[in-house]
Amino acid sequence: MTLTDSTTRHTDGTTELPAMSMRDIVDGHTAGHLVVAADDYGWWTDLLDGVPVHVSTPMEDVVADGLTRAGLLIREGETLRLTVAGRDVAAHRGFVRVTVRGWEPTFRRLASAREADRVPAATEPDNVARGCTDIARRRPEILAAVGGALAADEPGVTIDLGCADAGRVALLSALAPHEQFIGVDIEDGVIADATVDMAARGLAQRISLLTGSVQSTDDRPSWLDEVDCDAVTTAMSFFLLHQLASDGGGIAAVLRGWMEWFPNLRRVVIGDGIRLTAPSWTQQPWFSPTYEIYHAITGVRLWSDEEYTAAFAELGWTVRQRHSDHTMLVTTILER
Ligand SMILES: C[S@@+](CC[C@H](N)C(=O)[O-])C[C@H]1O[C@@H](n2cnc3c(N)ncnc32)[C@H](O)[C@@H]1O
Repeated sequence: MTLTDSTTRHTDGTTELPAMSMRDIVDGHTAGHLVVAADDYGWWTDLLDGVPVHVSTPMEDVVADGLTRAGLLIREGETLRLTVAGRDVAAHRGFVRVTVRGWEPTFRRLASAREADRVPAATEPDNVARGCTDIARRRPEILAAVGGALAADEPGVTIDLGCADAGRVALLSALAPHEQFIGVDIEDGVIADATVDMAARGLAQRISLLTGSVQSTDDRPSWLDEVDCDAVTTAMSFFLLHQLASDGGGIAAVLRGWMEWFPNLRRVVIGDGIRLTAPSWTQQPWFSPTYEIYHAITGVRLWSDEEYTAAFAELGWTVRQRHSDHTMLVTTILER
């Protein structure tokens, strides 16, 4: 892919790579907090859905004023509406939540880990889960493609490995009404909350949630005893394979393990970030530098498009559909 290059070339022949400004650094940080606060108030969802939003408390007033002066909202009296830039931020708010809230505890440890080779990831799991579901939700056509592939096939059982708050599974259950779903995640608190949520939404009969590790290169996990493994026909995993592959001997090794757990798999759906680096952050698509730096800190490898493609081919999977979301986020539907 082509990365942008707005390098400054001086008359003496030297060059400077594009830099971030002080405003990007200082005010961008504050704007991130305001965007998450507004999300917690439900403003972005309402504004994108055309639901009127009114400012009614002094703290809401501070947030609305900041976001208005940042150019993301327009204020008409006590009523808010989105600017063009605000609409873009509202749609991408999941990325803001993951970085500002979800990953912040890891970045915070950098100073004290100066002598360390890496900083083990310390996340706020609920914020990572919610941010990721918002990222998935903003491109409904990609989920619709996955749901369409499930619905067009014989009904089966789809398992989401690293399902977080089961947001993606819940959305898919509406698109493939005859499919059964299982979600597994290592965070027991996230699974406990999601289980209550699925029941409240009347989805408990169609979606079973389990706690445990889906790292297939470790010992066989006990949660598999609760699953009819022969019945599982589709395995999917979003934004987790890169991490499991780093810890577990590569992409093919992890996928091969899942294929052994579920011998009748006929479809695999993988969504993940692709490694895209450049000499300066401003030459990369936004979020790419953050994604790259976060993983460099935690010692998790990122994998190139070619490495994913080679692993899929090695295991006999054929790419049926490939959807690029944000430049660096790719969802692949594979069948055999
Ligand atoms: C970046 S989030 C992606 C969440 C979700 N798949 C999505 O895209 O919306 C990664 C998820 O994997 C979970 N996770 C991390 N390591 C895991 C493991 N070994 N087994 C199962 N889940 C794991 C985390 O708790 C988190 O919910």
